[in-house]
Amino acid sequence: MAKIAVLGAGGWGTALAVMANRMGHSVSLWSPFEAEVDSVRRHGQHVKLLPGIAVPPSITVTTDISCAAGVDLLILAVPSFAIAQTVEKVKPYVSANVLIANAGKGIEEQTYRRFTQVVSDTLPEAAVVALSGPSHAEEVGRGVPTLLVAASYDLRQAVRVQELLMNETFRLYTSADVIGVELGGALKNVIALAAGICDGLRMGDNTKAALMTRGLAEIARLGVSMGADATTFAGLSGMGDLIVTCGSMHSRNRRAGILIGQGVSPKAAVEQVGTVEGYLAAETAFRLSQHTGVEMPITETCYRICYENYSPREAVAALMTRPACAERDEGWL
Ligand SMILES: NC(=O)c1ccc[n+]([C@@H]2O[C@H](COP(=O)([O-])OP(=O)(O)OC[C@H]3O[C@@H](n4cnc5c(N)ncnc54)[C@H](O)[C@@H]3O)[C@@H](O)[C@H]2O)c1
Repeated sequence: MAKIAVLGAGGWGTALAVMANRMGHSVSLWSPFEAEVDSVRRHGQHVKLLPGIAVPPSITVTTDISCAAGVDLLILAVPSFAIAQTVEKVKPYVSANVLIANAGKGIEEQTYRRFTQVVSDTLPEAAVVALSGPSHAEEVGRGVPTLLVAASYDLRQAVRVQELLMNETFRLYTSADVIGVELGGALKNVIALAAGICDGLRMGDNTKAALMTRGLAEIARLGVSMGADATTFAGLSGMGDLIVTCGSMHSRNRRAGILIGQGVSPKAAVEQVGTVEGYLAAETAFRLSQHTGVEMPITETCYRICYENYSPREAVAALMTRPACAERDEGWL
């Protein structure tokens, strides 16, 4: 039995805590919000973000971040705007070489840092692993078979996370391509938002399949320019995550996109749905594409719809009438 602390008691953090607890680990689940902690304790579940999944009393739900002291594994499951402050907050309580699995997906706004970079900048000696892949919290909470990738430059650390968390319903593969694994998870949120917009506009299956395929191509293009291995994007953290996010009503990115496609303003859609990483990532990814000079037409379109009042219908027309070219001209590399 290992000692594990999960920081972030939203849908994903709660599902991972429940899963680790089922394996017999000693688990603490931390949130900075008294009201959230009280509610989970009182109801024995996260009524708002993970209803119907029992959080047994054997999981310590707390606002006391010292629960991270002496853990064998620290799991981070907070949104992009909270990652830096959460790592700063936990720093005094963990050993310098603590094993950390980051389960959040996104890119830090303004700095463009991937989450593991944020962690390593604050805790340079920590063993940091990126955990990513097709994984709705609702399904992990129910024990539905789920496959993810644990990525670390030092593969031994990814193997440690694999040994601690892998079980008969949660299968982990290791990878050394940290950049590719993290970028796939962060950037697919933008494409999921676009897929939702497509659905909200009542476009067909053809349109969505094309959007996903071309979306993955532009994610890979940016990823390769930043040092990722192109083949990673064909794996669980790339194509796998894109499929699950673009096709499911569990995805808040897609749900927000559907509302936008139906005519709701992007801001109002995000307020209605909650954490929509794709909305934030659209701006970050667009700026990143400008910074790197990598063409990302779908991401750019999504950014303009979200932040510049661009009409989704006009956007589709503009994408369809881009200059003719060969598929490979704008291909993976
Ligand atoms: N929900 C999923 O199915 C899922 C699956 C894989 C990855 N993720 C990723 O995990 C991360 C968290 O997503 P989520 O769906 O659990 O979000 P959520 O909105 O359900 O929960 C976020 C939680 O983070 C914590 N939090 C919020 N603000 C904070 C702050 N300022 N400081 C510290 N903690 C704060 C709170 O406990 C809050 O409940 C995101 O990056 C998301 O992309 C989510």
